Amino acid sequence: MCGIVGYIGNKQATPIVIDGLKRLEYRGYDSAGIAVHNIGEPIKFLKNAGRVAKLETEVNKNVPLGTVAIGHTRWATHGAPNDINAHPHKDCTGKIHLVHNGIIENYVSLKNELDQAGHKFSSDTDTEVLAHLIESLFRGTLEDAVAQALSRVRGTYALAVISEGDPAKIVAARNSSPLLIGIGEGECLLASDPSAVIAATKKVVFLEDGEMATLTPEGFRIKDLGGDELLKRLVEIPWTLEEAEKSGHAHFMHKEIFEGPEVVANTMRGRIMVDEGLVKFGGLENYAKHLANTERLILTGMGTAYHAALIGEYLFEEIAEIPTEVEYAAEFRYRHPILDNHNKATLIAVSQSGETADTLAAVREAKRRNVFTMGIVNVVGSSVARETDAGIYNHAGPEIAVASTKAFLSQITVLTMASIFLGRMRNLEITRAKELLAELVALPDKMSRILEQEQVFIDLANWLKDAEHVFFLGRKYNFPIALEGALKLKEVSYLHAEGYNAAEMKHGPIALIEPSFPTIAIVPQDSVYEKTISNLEEIKARGGPIVAIATEGDERILKVADAAIFIPKTLEPILPVLTTIPLHLLAYHTAVARGCDVDKPRNLAKSVTVE
Ligand code: M6R
Repeated sequence: MCGIVGYIGNKQATPIVIDGLKRLEYRGYDSAGIAVHNIGEPIKFLKNAGRVAKLETEVNKNVPLGTVAIGHTRWATHGAPNDINAHPHKDCTGKIHLVHNGIIENYVSLKNELDQAGHKFSSDTDTEVLAHLIESLFRGTLEDAVAQALSRVRGTYALAVISEGDPAKIVAARNSSPLLIGIGEGECLLASDPSAVIAATKKVVFLEDGEMATLTPEGFRIKDLGGDELLKRLVEIPWTLEEAEKSGHAHFMHKEIFEGPEVVANTMRGRIMVDEGLVKFGGLENYAKHLANTERLILTGMGTAYHAALIGEYLFEEIAEIPTEVEYAAEFRYRHPILDNHNKATLIAVSQSGETADTLAAVREAKRRNVFTMGIVNVVGSSVARETDAGIYNHAGPEIAVASTKAFLSQITVLTMASIFLGRMRNLEITRAKELLAELVALPDKMSRILEQEQVFIDLANWLKDAEHVFFLGRKYNFPIALEGALKLKEVSYLHAEGYNAAEMKHGPIALIEPSFPTIAIVPQDSVYEKTISNLEEIKARGGPIVAIATEGDERILKVADAAIFIPKTLEPILPVLTTIPLHLLAYHTAVARGCDVDKPRNLAKSVTVE
C-alpha cells in the first residue's frame, strides 16, 4: 500500500502535493518523493528514504516551480526502502516520470526484455519497469504509450505518469489499487483516497479497474483500456478531513479489520498456482535446497505474531509433515535451546513490524548458532527482514492501530501457503494441494460475508461490555485463535479475558464458571467438533452463557450455545482466517461500547523495541 497524489492546474503544484502526501502517510511512510513539471523545462524530482516531513524539508530548500506534479509516499514491496527505490521512477531519458501503488507481477520478465533492448535500470523496484516500458512505446501521445504498456502488465496498479514529450497532462490508470480524481476550479487533483484532495475540493470521481484518465487544468477524460470514452458520476464526499483519513471508518482498527479480504488477496497475489498445486515465493527461490532438506522448524514471535506461529505448527506438521515447535522469542533467546543438527533446522520469525526486540534477538541467537533463519514480516526493510537469511513479506500494508488485525490474517495466510510450499517438496499430494489452494483463493469472498454481519457484533458487544471476565475456547487449529481472541479483547477493551483449549476447562478453569461469566467458543464443524460440543455441555450445565462461532447451517449449535455467529464452510487448516474475524470485530465493538481509546490502548505501543 502506498499513497499517490497528483496536481495539475493554475497554482504552484509542489505545496499542494506535499500537503496531500502528509495526509496519505498512513498508507506508507518508508520513503517519499515528488516530480514537478514547469512546462518547457526539464522535469525536476526529489525523493528520499524516510517520512514526508524529510522530503518537505528538502523541497523547501529550493521549492521546484511548476503547475504539474506527482508525488508518492511508499510502503515498500519490492526493493528496500531507500532513496533509489523511492518513487517517482523515470525512464532512461529522464523525460517520463511515474508513481505507482501495487505490484507488477511479471516485472522480472519485462525487465529482462527491456534490459536486452538496452534500457538501464537504477532501482530494485518492480515500478521502474513501467517507466522504461512506457518509454519504449512512446510515439508522442502519453495515453497511447501508457495503454499499450498496461496491456503487457500483469498485477495491480494505481499509476500517475507525466512526460516532457507530451506535457500539460497527467495520465492515470487503475487496476485493484484505489485512485480518484478531485475536480476543482481550473485544476484537477489525483489521489489514492479522498483525504488528500478534500482540502481543495469535495467533488471527486472514483476510477474503477481497467480505467485510464487524462487530467488537464480544464478537466479530465476517462477511457477504458480499449480506448472507449466513459461517462462517470461525480461524487460529493461528505467527510471531514479526519474522517477521510480513515476512509470514513471511526477508527483505524475498524478500517484494518475491513481491509482483511483485500489484504489476504494481496498476500496471495502472484504466489499461488492453483492448477499446478504450487506456491511460489520470490524470497525463497535461492534456498530451495536447504528448505527441501529441513528436518525441524522453530517458529517464534511475540503477542499476536506468536499466535500466528502456533497456527503454523499445526499447518507445518499436518500439511508439510515437518516436526515443528513454537516458542516465545523472549524464551528462545535465553533458555539455551538444543540446536543439534543445526544445518537441518530453520527458525522462522513472525513479526508485523520486524522490529520487536525479542524476536530480533531470537533471530540473532539462531544465527549465532548457525541455524538458517527466515522472516515472515510485514514491514519491508525492517530489522528482522534485513537480518534473516530469507523471507516472505506479508504485503498487508501499513497497520496503524496498535492492535494487530489485518497483519495477523496475512501471517496465517503466509503460513498456510508456506506449509503447502514445503509440503509439495515432500509428500503433499498435488490433489490435496490444489484443494487447499482453491479454498485459499475463495477466502476473500467468504471473509466479506462475515464482515457483512456487523450488526450482530455490535449487539453482542453491548451485552459483553458489562462482563468482568470472558473465556475464549477452541481446539486444534482454533486453540491459538482462542488465545488471539482473548488477547485482542483485553488489549482494546480492558476486559479480563483468557484463552484455553476447550479440553483444558475441566482441569481447573471451569471452577470459575457461573451465570455472569461468558464463554466465546470457536466451534466450527471440523474434526474436533463433537469433542468441543462435549466441553461446552459442561459449561452449559454450570449456567455459563455461551456464544459460539459456528459453521453456517449448523442447526445443533443453538441447543448448546445461547447465541451463535455463523461463518462459511472451508477446509479445516484454512478455518483460522475465517474464525479470527468475528473475534477481532467483537473486541473492537466491545472496546467502542466501553468508551476505550481503540487505536491507542493504554500502556501499549505499536512496536515493542525493548525487551
Ligand atoms: O511487530 P510484531 O508482530 O513483532 O509485534 C508483536 C507483538 O508486540 C504484537 O503482535 C502485539 O501483541 C499486538 N499489539 C497485538 O495486537
